[in-house]
Amino acid sequence: MGTDYLAFLLAGLLAAVPAAYTSYSVSEEIPAVREWGDEETEAADAADAKNTEDMHYTGIISAMANEIDLLLKEARIDDVETIGGVDYHVGELCGQHVVIAQAGVGKVLSAAGAAAMIDNFPIDSLIFTGIAGGVGDETQVLDEVVATQLVQHDYGQITNDGFEWFEGYVGENGRYPCDEELVELAYRSAVKVVGEDHVFKGTIATGDQFVASEEYVKVLQDEFDAVACEMEGAAVALVCMKYEVPFVVVRAMSDKADGNAHESYKNMGDIAADNSSEIVMTMLRELSGEEAVEVFMEEYEEETEKSTQEEDTAA
Ligand code: ADE
Repeated sequence: MGTDYLAFLLAGLLAAVPAAYTSYSVSEEIPAVREWGDEETEAADAADAKNTEDMHYTGIISAMANEIDLLLKEARIDDVETIGGVDYHVGELCGQHVVIAQAGVGKVLSAAGAAAMIDNFPIDSLIFTGIAGGVGDETQVLDEVVATQLVQHDYGQITNDGFEWFEGYVGENGRYPCDEELVELAYRSAVKVVGEDHVFKGTIATGDQFVASEEYVKVLQDEFDAVACEMEGAAVALVCMKYEVPFVVVRAMSDKADGNAHESYKNMGDIAADNSSEIVMTMLRELSGEEAVEVFMEEYEEETEKSTQEEDTAA
């Protein structure tokens, strides 16, 4: 009886894991469309509270539309909530509950978008996905950088001697560290998508400027030891730190932040953006696989306990 049941569960697991990789199924308990912020009856509230206790979302934020296009195409979207002019797409992607949003370009919009997402949805972890300019000789166009930490390279003061960087009031030395487990997951996933030779981990420098200058690239390298530069990562990181939400930033290089940056960005931006999206989906699939095994183990233990009790009663 116990052996038969184990075989039955194993067969179920083998069927469930590949399914999680290719599609997803929503538990009956989870409302297909949740009307966030709507007035609800007490009974519905209670049911939702029970369901959302178990439910968690991975938040996915980008700056531009092309950075989430592929994700939205692949996801099943159940609901779209517009908050502060940003559309939050709620649904499932690669077996995970997700909220996906294009928050806009620059530190203000991305910080506002991240804060609104965390305030309005039960976000367990947050991934920023998109493109960046490569800093230094190490990274080439279409390489991927997984941020280990972020820094605002344009934060500081202007004196008679010019701009002076200031570390600010949060983080160590003005650096905002990403969640280590998410960094490892993102790195593994990036290696699967673009190959080990094209994946780098390191500091991403964020500022409210598109960088297209060899001279400034040198500053980013020398002052911040940066491997990539972009316009949102540190802002989202800072918000996540304040809300204690684990986060990571995944960026594909669309350009080298040099004199040719605009041209390269125009030609390679869409491809780079899709690569980062592929990496995000690979991350979600790995999480789904892990969850399928966890669910299997829980069910197996419950059933074993139940049949032992039945056998004891019958004896
Ligand atoms: N995003 C993509 N390329 C960039 C660059 N060169 N500077 C800032 N943000 C970017």
